Formats: sequence, C-alpha cells, structure tokens
Amino acid sequence: MTRILFAASEGLPFVKTGGLADVVQSLPNALAKRGHDVRVVLPLYESVIQKYYPSLQRIGTVRVHSGWIDQPATYYQTEVDGVIYYFIEHQHYFERDGLYGYQDDGERFAFFQRSLLDMLGYLDWFPEILQANDWQTGMLPLLCHVCFREDWRYQQIRHVFTIHNLSFQGNFGVEMLPSCLGLPYYYFDNGSIRFDNGISFLKAGIVYADKIVTVSPTYSYEILTQEGGARMDGVLRYRREDLWGITNGIDTEIWNPATDPSLVRRYDEHDWVRGKKVNKKALQKELGLKQDPAVCVIAMVSRLTRQKGVYLLTEKLNDILSTAVQMVVLGTGESDAENAFRWMENSHKGQAVYYCGYNEELAHRIYAGADLFLMPSLFEPCGISQMISQRYGTLPLVRETGGLRDTVKPFNEFTGEGNGFSFTEANSSDMMYTIRYALRQYYDNRAGWTGLVQSAMETDVSWEKSALLYEELYRMCLGQ
Ligand code: ADP
Ligand code: GLC
Repeated sequence: MTRILFAASEGLPFVKTGGLADVVQSLPNALAKRGHDVRVVLPLYESVIQKYYPSLQRIGTVRVHSGWIDQPATYYQTEVDGVIYYFIEHQHYFERDGLYGYQDDGERFAFFQRSLLDMLGYLDWFPEILQANDWQTGMLPLLCHVCFREDWRYQQIRHVFTIHNLSFQGNFGVEMLPSCLGLPYYYFDNGSIRFDNGISFLKAGIVYADKIVTVSPTYSYEILTQEGGARMDGVLRYRREDLWGITNGIDTEIWNPATDPSLVRRYDEHDWVRGKKVNKKALQKELGLKQDPAVCVIAMVSRLTRQKGVYLLTEKLNDILSTAVQMVVLGTGESDAENAFRWMENSHKGQAVYYCGYNEELAHRIYAGADLFLMPSLFEPCGISQMISQRYGTLPLVRETGGLRDTVKPFNEFTGEGNGFSFTEANSSDMMYTIRYALRQYYDNRAGWTGLVQSAMETDVSWEKSALLYEELYRMCLGQ
C-alpha cells in the first residue's frame, strides 16, 4: 500500500475541461481499488462551490507565505469511491467563471502549489508519492525541495510528473520567482527552469521530478524530437532515462453502454446492433436530424482547436456532406472552427448539427448513437474520446499520432482485424480518402463493419494494465 497524492488543476466528478479531468478521476480510482491510499487535491473553483459546497467538510485555514504573497488558504475535503479529495479555497484566485486563461494564471497556480504543500504539514499526512499533472503543478518538486528543505517529511516525498499536453507550458516572467514562488533567481541563472527570458512551470516539472510520465508510448517518443517537442525536446532528451510512456485508460464503469443512465436503451457487446439502432434514432430525433436508421452518423466531440485537426475537417465539410452521411459536432473552441460548424448546420439542415457548448449527457448519447467518430488530431498525447467510442461500438477514425496510434488498430480488410480506421499524413485529402474508405465498409461490407464494431467493443480500454505500470514506476521511485 502506497500513499499517493494527485495534484491537478481539474478532476472529475467535480470539474472538467478535457481528458485530464477524466484521468484525475479514473487513475486514482483504479489505484485505490488496488489497495493504495490515494488522495487528490484540486483548487476550489466557483463551479465546484455551486454544486458541491454542502458536501464538503471544512478542515482549516492556514496563512500561506510565498514570496511577497501572504494570504490565507482554507482547506476542505470530501470522499468519493474510497478516494479523499481535498480542495483549496482562495476566493480571489479560484472563484471565477472559468478555470484558465487569466492574466494572473501564474500567480494563481503558484499559490495553489505552495498552499498544497502547506496543507500537508497542517494535515500531518504526507504522501510517499506526489503525482503532479501538467504545468499547473509542475513547480511542486522544486518548491518541495527548496522551501521545505529543513523538514524531512517533505524530503522523503518522491515526485512523479505526468505530462498530458506538452503544448501548455506555463511560461511566465522571471519576476515570478521572488514575487509568487518565494524562490531565488538562482534557478533562473542556473538555467534549470529558464525558458526564453522567463521561467517555465512545465520545464521545472521535467527537470526536478524523480520520474516523468507522458500519456502514451508513441507521444513519449514524439516529444523527444524537434518536430513534436514544443521546444522542450532538449530538456526531455536530457531526462529520457526517466521518461515513461503509459497509455491512459478510461473509467469503464462510468463509460459503460450496458449501464449508462443517459442512454434511451442500454446495450453491450452481445446486443449492440439493436442497441445502437435505438440510440441512433433517439439521437436523430433529439438533434432534429432526419430519422434514417440506415445512414452513417459521423460524430465529433471535442475541444475545437488546431490540435484536434478541426481545420482538416472544416476544409472537407462540403465533400463529406455530399456523401450519404449525417454529421454531429459537439464542442467549443476557436471561433473560426465554431463558425465553420455553424455554417455547416445552417446550410445542411436535417443532415448536420452543431451543438456549441459543453454537454456531458449529450456526449454520452452521441458516443452511443453515432457510427463513426472523427479525431484527425495534428498531435494527441493520448486521447480519451477514441477509447470511449470503441467501448460504445462507434468506430474511431483517427490520424496516426501519439496515443491515437497506440490505441486504434486500423481495419485490415484481408484479415478482418482492427478496431477503427486511421490515416498517416496531416492533410485533409488523406483524411477524406479514409472517410470514404470507412463509408464503403459501412455500406458495402457489413460483415467487415460488424467485426470491427465487435472488436472495438471488446478492446481493453480500462486502467487494468496501465495502473500496474504506474505502480511499477512508483516502486522504482521509492527504491522498492
Ligand atoms: P483533450 O483532453 O485534449 O481535450 P481527450 O480526448 O483526452 O482530449 O478528452 C476529451 C474529453 O472531454 C472526453 O471525455 C470528451 O468526451 C470530453 N469532451 C470534449 N468536449 C466536450 C463537450 N463539448 N461536451 C462534453 N464532453 C466533451
Ligand atoms: C490532454 C491531451 C489528451 C489526453 C488528456 C489526458 O488533454 O490533449 O490527448 O488524453 O490530456 O491525458
């Protein structure tokens, strides 16, 4: 049994903007089920207060001194499925409309990290492993080493830093060191956390963690190259001996078409033909699409950003919609992408729908009711959506990059093997070619399609194997 503390900026069931939140729920759950003492710490955002405040238990308040900051942080806790969740309250920093994208994000997450470390002393509970995630928690190893150097309880902690997306780096001005972090300029001068002319929270995590993980093996190789390294490839190569690639899993209890309360009809790998048909019909009705059981429904549920390859898709919307398909897009993001999908809906009423927003329930119904799920990402550290699609018998069509390459096995029409479709180059013609190929299988090769859906639904997308790898990594960190 290991004591593990997950530090993150978002996590379900409380708050989510992307796959990080899925992982911050499902991996702790998987480890807790294996007998570990797993806890999670998150900022107490406005949205969490509104929904969960009555269920939170106040632990206490501490005055946090970090650089020029001298502010109180109040701690709360609650328990879900055997995992304790801590929340750090600071009205000015966290009680805002959104999670990120504010001018003072550096200051906000510096405070989060520093107050998190103070909380451990207050609780007198110390993890053996502090598992940080992405730039918002990247300073933890260094803060722990420097600011608590005289407290052996902090010095015993081993640090794992998981990179979910290298393109979000938390790069700030150097004045952040004394002002918000309480660290000397030495760490800029020695180059260890210097990035351009400032500092990088992400780089600090890479340099000072005991082990670094990224969320798929392929992405762990890609980020060592200049092309995929987002200017961190040099420092990652320097730490390559300590860099692991562990593919994410999904929570197969939450994402289970056999028990999913959001679906009009539940189904499993034995009765999916009927189950998906009923769900497709209901989805078409709900979204105002022509009710046609035979048509291939293509879906995308995503942040609409460049990373996700949305512009490959918007380039080809006319071509796609001139074939026998229906399109469903759910997501928000860059305005160019949103506008293109608005145009799609307006010019193809009854055939295409764009739902601009974040809608968890609808996402479940789309995964169940669609036939093909598009993820033409330019890069993808792991990707959660393609695994959910597989579990719901919706075949992912992806670009072979990062975790998409590791989790989607393209259809081989000679052997019948595969659990999706894929293309290699990041261009819209190759994507379109593969969409047409997939549609031929859907309409003209029913046996092939059925075999694919069957093996997609039987694919192991759980945490079972990957949780073991995290355990092995933790053991290595602890010298066991
Ligand atoms: P990323 O974390 O890069 O956004 P992932 O594929 O890892 O991509 O995870 C995305 C997660 O967010 C999936 O669980 C997906 O279903 C969900 N999601 C994305 N956009 C929306 C949306 N608009 N409404 C509901 N769920 C969404
Ligand atoms: C990031 C990545 C995504 C990954 C998720 C969870 O948001 O963009 O590929 O699945 O983190 O690790």
